[in-house]
Amino acid sequence: MSETIRTLLSEEEVDQRIAEIAAQISEDYEGRQVHLICVLKGGIFFTCELAKRLSVPVSMDFMSVSSYGAATKSSGVVKIVKDLDEEIEGKDVLVVEDIIDSGRTLSYLLEYLRNRGPKSLRLCTLLDKPERRVVEVDVHYTCFQIPDEFVVGYGLDYAQKYRNLPYIGIVELD
Ligand code: IMP
Ligand code: MG
Repeated sequence: MSETIRTLLSEEEVDQRIAEIAAQISEDYEGRQVHLICVLKGGIFFTCELAKRLSVPVSMDFMSVSSYGAATKSSGVVKIVKDLDEEIEGKDVLVVEDIIDSGRTLSYLLEYLRNRGPKSLRLCTLLDKPERRVVEVDVHYTCFQIPDEFVVGYGLDYAQKYRNLPYIGIVELD
């Protein structure tokens, strides 16, 4: 089976919105250092683009989680594939995600991080599909709310492909 990708958000739209969110975060964290936690692999492009535009001091760490279950649906059972390298106790932590779908991955992850004693814990996502929410998640920064479509690009994959697209596209199966 092959697929075509239809543009949902252009590179210019995404970049412009990231700059806006970065300005907001820089204002909110004024006088503090923000500790970004990138959720791999999908969050990598967004984390880099966001971090470049922050005017407050930044430190970064990376986590990788995988949810057991079907390829395009999240099961809610989360496995930590790569844990943090550094402690987060006393830090102003900002989790950076590619997309919030059911909310299961994030709700698990936030609880896990909260138990490690950060000074503050917030969540920033590039995309949000609110219609799909099963578990309530408190999202502080959202670049775009999108309809219930499977999207790729800017870090998001379909069977590990298309992460490198500089825009967000909808996958259409031919
Ligand atoms: P959740 O636990 O259902 O919120 O799932 C979130 C994870 O599912 C994301 O971090 C993505 O890895 C993946 N995901 C959900 N929707 C999409 C999509 O439209 N395209 C690509 N990956 C997606
Ligand atoms: Mg993800």
